[in-house]
Amino acid sequence: MTDRHRWWQRGIVYEVSIRSFADADGDGVGDLAGIRSRLDYLAWLGVDAVWITPFFPSPMVDNGYDVADYTGVEPLFGSLDDFDRLLADAHDRSLRVICDFVPNHTSDQHPWFRASRSARDAPKRDWYLWRDPAPDGGPPTNWLSEFGGPAWTLDEATGQYYYHAFASAQPDLNWRNREVREAMYDAMRFWLDRGVDGFRVDVMWHLVKDEAYRDNPPNPDYREGQGSPYRRLVPAYSADQPEVHEVVAEMRAVLEEYEDRVMIGEIYLPVDRLIDYYGRDGDGAHLPFNFHLITTPWDAREIEVVIDRYEGVLPENAWPNWVLGNHDQPRVASRVGDAQSRVAAVLLLTLRGTPTLYYGEELGLRDVPIPPERVTDVRERQQPGRGLGRDPERTPMPWDATEHGGGFTSGEPWLPLGEANLARSVATQREERKSMLMLHRRLIELRRREAALLVGSYRPMPAQGDALAYRRASDGRELVVALNLGAAAQRLVLPDELGELRVILSASGEAEGRTHRDELPLAANEALVLEALGEGRR
Ligand code: NOJ
Repeated sequence: MTDRHRWWQRGIVYEVSIRSFADADGDGVGDLAGIRSRLDYLAWLGVDAVWITPFFPSPMVDNGYDVADYTGVEPLFGSLDDFDRLLADAHDRSLRVICDFVPNHTSDQHPWFRASRSARDAPKRDWYLWRDPAPDGGPPTNWLSEFGGPAWTLDEATGQYYYHAFASAQPDLNWRNREVREAMYDAMRFWLDRGVDGFRVDVMWHLVKDEAYRDNPPNPDYREGQGSPYRRLVPAYSADQPEVHEVVAEMRAVLEEYEDRVMIGEIYLPVDRLIDYYGRDGDGAHLPFNFHLITTPWDAREIEVVIDRYEGVLPENAWPNWVLGNHDQPRVASRVGDAQSRVAAVLLLTLRGTPTLYYGEELGLRDVPIPPERVTDVRERQQPGRGLGRDPERTPMPWDATEHGGGFTSGEPWLPLGEANLARSVATQREERKSMLMLHRRLIELRRREAALLVGSYRPMPAQGDALAYRRASDGRELVVALNLGAAAQRLVLPDELGELRVILSASGEAEGRTHRDELPLAANEALVLEALGEGRR
């Protein structure tokens, strides 16, 4: 049955934040050669694809998400040759490589923007979003930047404002302009021709804005001081516009010119809007990122609702996906605690759909507090002290317990590794049978072995309190996943028809081999995968 599925359906994606994975040249910043030197680790862990955050030439205002050339490599990270070598070595190990594609905005240093801002009648003027000032001289609309303040900056020389959903150094491209589209599709082809296996498309839901430039309405749920001030308005006219789906379908068509590539879309939207990004008749993103395990409180009943709602609205043939963390979000171990992060790992790797792991999640890395003088993140710099900074979840990977560099670099790491994380290094955890790393490796191996987990059906099971449970089945083989999202013991009633069940994986490592029928005791912070021995036996 698994043969009918594409590699990105069966596979696990592993996100590498390039600055922080491995530094080969000792400048304290990770690079392409560093990733290449750690491919054996990824193969050993058992993941299938590496998504690498942007490594294109960039002034690095926003961690490389301000691209100044879509078809080059930032010297800080290496060269095109380094990329080609990395790709070839990854493919030799059956690892796919997914590039970050940042189509919504460029750097203000990109030649396109320089040309666009040069004069009102410049040929590339319409490549970006230029508007006259409002009658009072202020910004043309009330739209806000995700990084704080208005999303419009006045260009004194030409007397017009340009729009930027993020930093002012990241002007938004005008995706209603055909030339822009073609130029960006050519950039995609540049990497596809080199053999990349797909793209993670940055802020896909932002690409198109309201043609009439209407003001966004206020958000009635916003409370001053809680979360980002960007949330003061509902981005009704600045994001998720109906016309975006035409662009997404065109991007998908570019991918379809090649064999077996994947398009993953970064989209923070409620599930009913999110699923539109699969496209009409599946002509959109293969995997519109589902971030609801990140945005939902860690509570069994709330998570159950999210899973059921998502499973319930997925169009036929739309493949699900799940994520616990990324380079924009507090690390899962910091959010839910060490004990629960093991339960979260079992959840992520046993749900139906493609999981994406964020580098270091497999080690249980925590957010690292960053002293003010070492802050690099533009979101923190522009809105200091509100807890919006993303440096804490972007700290270097601890490969071994070497003080300071942790095997990540021989130089001065660009961000501190953090003492607590150094103690969780790969080298240390590889030696501990019950470590977080070994739990991940075993889960990944189990997932690969069990068609029920890889491609099987999903069925929720009734559960109360902090317990969460579901059934996965394929070809008559039935598995039960039972999770305890709390710190008190729980009991789960097992359906009669399942007969006897045996624990094949336990997050604590304590319960394996035990058999149960009718009722399942779930210790505090425990997560179990069980096989049905009765009716459903293979
Ligand atoms: C989403 C990226 O994940 C984030 O890191 C970045 O700041 C914004 N897009 C802007 O590109």
